[in-house]
Amino acid sequence: MRISVIGCGYLGAVHAAGMAELGHDVVGIDVDPAKVAALARAEAPFHEPGLTELLRANRARLLFTTDIAAARDARVHFIAVGTPQSADSDAADTRYVDAAVEALLPYLRPGHLVVGKSTVPVGTAERLAVSVASTGARLAWNPEFLREGRAVADTITPDRLVYGVAEGDAVSVAALDEVYESIVARQTPRIVTDLATAQLVKSAANAFLATKISFINAMAEIAEAVGADVVQLADALGHDARIGRAFLGAGLGFGGGCLPKDIRAFRARAGELGVPDALGFLADVDSINLRRRTRVADVLEQELGPLIGRRIAVLGLAFKPDSDDVRDSPALAVAAMLRDRGGDVVATDPVAIPTARARDPFITYRSNTDDALRDADAVVIATEWAQFRALDPVATGQMVANRLVVDARNVLDVDAWRSAGWIVRGLGRAHALRVEDPRAVQHEPEGAAEREPDHV
Ligand code: UGA
Repeated sequence: MRISVIGCGYLGAVHAAGMAELGHDVVGIDVDPAKVAALARAEAPFHEPGLTELLRANRARLLFTTDIAAARDARVHFIAVGTPQSADSDAADTRYVDAAVEALLPYLRPGHLVVGKSTVPVGTAERLAVSVASTGARLAWNPEFLREGRAVADTITPDRLVYGVAEGDAVSVAALDEVYESIVARQTPRIVTDLATAQLVKSAANAFLATKISFINAMAEIAEAVGADVVQLADALGHDARIGRAFLGAGLGFGGGCLPKDIRAFRARAGELGVPDALGFLADVDSINLRRRTRVADVLEQELGPLIGRRIAVLGLAFKPDSDDVRDSPALAVAAMLRDRGGDVVATDPVAIPTARARDPFITYRSNTDDALRDADAVVIATEWAQFRALDPVATGQMVANRLVVDARNVLDVDAWRSAGWIVRGLGRAHALRVEDPRAVQHEPEGAAEREPDHV
């Protein structure tokens, strides 16, 4: 099938390559010539494991262009443009979705299907369906649940498909089944619903994930007050199949281009819909999350006193490992906060220095971890990249001026680091953690917990 994908960012670029992998002829369209040029050379324009390989393997079925007229020959058109937070409110800015559909209208014909993938305020699809219908084409909503860092697998082997269609629109369902033929054939759960529910599924999923993270971070605040250990608490909670261990990784909290702005937009939409109380709790979810960043700076001040002139190595800038995305990154926010409190911050990240520098040129960046660590008065693990989790406490101890580490992602082997002479401060972890009992729950690294499917 011939498919167009409008918008080639974190979502659209992977979706275009994924659809080619499924055997379709795909044209990816974006207004950014640099992005299009990179994709046309089969190079991922951002760090996403496996994407370059996917682009290369499917080169013959992929075309990238800035010319929307190239959508003319496609039968199914995916809308994958961004919906950032509005400049002056918490609501989502849907102007790029509106513009993409508007630009597509002259090329739509009866028999065509426009498929929304972007995360939008519920009600957007119904509005767009009216203009799409004026061309004789149809509109469906097919939310995307891919995670950055694992986007390729999430696209080719999703855990569910959600189709939102107008009542009785079997034609759109059949077209989507044709697009996802091999995925449907694997018995992947497939929910066919109305447009409103399909849009809501996405907002609700991200709101739930954010709430789960903030719940455990609220428990971290309690654990800090009482001297308990939030990681062991999460392990114990997670064994309850109704709760599950995934997304109970306490630490610096959530960031990125989705969860923070999506919970704000969802809450704003509830207000517009006349049910503001329904999502009032998301304001707390947001503030618990933001408080974790301040907590890191406070912990450092507790240990070091005023940060003025103190050298602090911040390990990690991306909002999560395996990504160069620093949008609303807790790690970058902490680096900036420490700098603002007078710290002499030296930050590093395996891939996110260019994106971080573009957002905050006033931080000192070092591409080499050893250079960032040298002579540090304190080390902060801000993003749980595998190489930071694997740091040797003895060798690392020889580089720094003072053995103080704030494990803001709760991923270090606390005993090993303490044995090497470090003061280790986690977030929500008892000050003197010791696992005396060999039968005690083994601490699962949080990234690994995230990878575990949640069998709820
Ligand atoms: C999120 C959702 O997980 C996807 O399903 C969704 O498709 C996507 O947003 C989107 O809307 O496009 P993503 O932003 O890539 O995906 O990242 P997540 O894996 O959800 O992580 C979000 C943040 O939560 C990261 O900063 C991560 O470090 C943090 N996190 C995650 C925790 O602090 N604790 C955890 O236990 C898990």
